[in-house]
Formats: sequence, C-alpha cells, structure tokens
Amino acid sequence: MMPTPSTSTPELLSTPDDLRRWSLACRAAGLSVGMVPTMGALHAGHRALIDRSVAESDRVVVTIFVNPAQFGPHEDFARYPRSMDADLRMLASAGVHAAFVPSVETMYPPGRVTRLDITGPLGERLEGASRPGHFNGVALVVTKLLVAGVPDRAYFGQKDAQQCAVVRRLVRDLDIGVEIVVCPTVRDTDGLAISSRNVYLSTEERVRARAIPSSLATAIAQFEAGERDATALATTVRSCLENAGLDVDYVAVVRAEDFTEVERAAPTNQIVLAARIGSTRLIDVVRLGVDTAPVGRGV
Ligand code: PAF
Repeated sequence: MMPTPSTSTPELLSTPDDLRRWSLACRAAGLSVGMVPTMGALHAGHRALIDRSVAESDRVVVTIFVNPAQFGPHEDFARYPRSMDADLRMLASAGVHAAFVPSVETMYPPGRVTRLDITGPLGERLEGASRPGHFNGVALVVTKLLVAGVPDRAYFGQKDAQQCAVVRRLVRDLDIGVEIVVCPTVRDTDGLAISSRNVYLSTEERVRARAIPSSLATAIAQFEAGERDATALATTVRSCLENAGLDVDYVAVVRAEDFTEVERAAPTNQIVLAARIGSTRLIDVVRLGVDTAPVGRGV
C-alpha cells in the first residue's frame, strides 16, 4: 500500500550521523527508504525524482549539498544557484519526510586523505575530459551519502547520463547494495532539458538553446530513418548546434553502460552532448530507440 504523503515540514538532518540514525530507525520500523541526492535549486526535474521516490518508498530523504569536490577551480561553485527556503517548501509540498542539509565542514572534515578515482572512458572521456576530477568528486559525495543514508533506492536524472553510469558502476564496484533508479529527463515546453543552470541564460540565449533539443530530434529522426553511422549522427547534431552559434564541447554516440564511443549506432546507445551558450555550459542526452524526439524539433 502506498504511504500517504506527509505535508508537514521535513525533519532537518545536518550531519551524516543524524542521517544514518534517521534512516536506520525507519528501517528498524520496517519502512523502506528512498533517497534523492541534489545540490538544491530544486526544479521540475528534481520534483519528478522526488515524486517517484515518494510513490515507491515509505520514507524519503532529499539531500541538499552543493558539493565543492565536483567543481573545477574555474567553474561555477560560488555562483551556483541556492534557494534553501523555496527548496524546503517544495519538499514539504511533495510529502518528503527528511532533508539532509550538511555544511561543507561536516561533509569534508579537515585532514581527509581518502579519495575515489573513476578511471577508464567512464571517468575520463567526454564530461570526464571536459571537467577533470568532476566524477571523482561526484563519486566521493554520492558514496558518502549512500553509506551514511543506507537507502533502499536512490534516484538520479537521466539528463546526467554519464553521472548515472558512474553511480551505477561505483555501487557495483564497492558493493554498496542500493538500487539506483534513473528517471527520464524533464523538458520545458520548447524541449530544453530542465537544469539548475538554465537560470544563467539571457532571454536571447534561452531562445538559441532550443537548438539543443532540436539537434537531438533531428538525429533521432535520422536514426529512425535507418542511419546507423555514428559519425553521421554526431555531425548532424554538431552542425545544428554550430548553426545556432553554440560552442560545441563534444557530441558522441556511446554505449550507456561504460560510455565507450561506438562506430555503428544501435538501439539503447545514447547521443550525448555538451555545448556552451555564452558562459553557460549545458549538457543533454537522448537514448536511441527509447526516447521520442524532444519537443522543439525544427525550431
Ligand atoms: O546531480 C547532482 O545534482 C549532483 O551531481 C549530485 C548527484 C547531487 C552529487 O552532488
């Protein structure tokens, strides 16, 4: 039977020990625990993860922590959007039971000597090449959250496809024993994937950003019409982006499990991309043979 969502303010947990005690108490009472790791600035994409977790778990904890370890020295850690009051209101309205909101000092006590390295194409190609050390930082914080929070399931968004593959792999490599649930990308009406970083876009940039879903829609149509040459598909996407004045970081057709690039595209392969519009870097992904074309096609 599905638990009735609570509409009261979620319990605030601020240390990993608080989180562990809360979760173990839930589990001792026979209640399943779902976790939604976030960096806050919650939007409709997060809400979809939270709603799924609330539907599938007896108790839900959302973690809000802008993780410095996953930002490079010249990235947007300092200006990353933060909206704690609005986030907590959203968690209450979604029926979330607990919010884990630690400080940087609590998560990373001075003197730390332990790190995690995500090696091979998964850690070092595409997002990993463009953002050196990024996945090591993601892996470290996600491992800490899963180990402290001992959830039954943890929820991540498909938009961060390489991150999802990294998390699945580290859970397997480290025998963490948590089910990783990947939820579909939530898109705006014009097809742009919803992201906390969309707030950086000016009105004019926001219009040009439609080239991202539009380029992917064109490649999906090509794939559906029989094109299997990965270079041809990637070239289609790249040309659409460049024609709209976007600065392309990468476009690739990859295997979903390990992010190795393929020469012949097959169903379940993914087209992944990163591009800059002004100073804003956005990523997106579609799963061939699975995702329908993002709206915005032909824009
Ligand atoms: O996807 C994110 O918001 C972050 O990378 C995550 C998974 C919460 C780790 O900081």
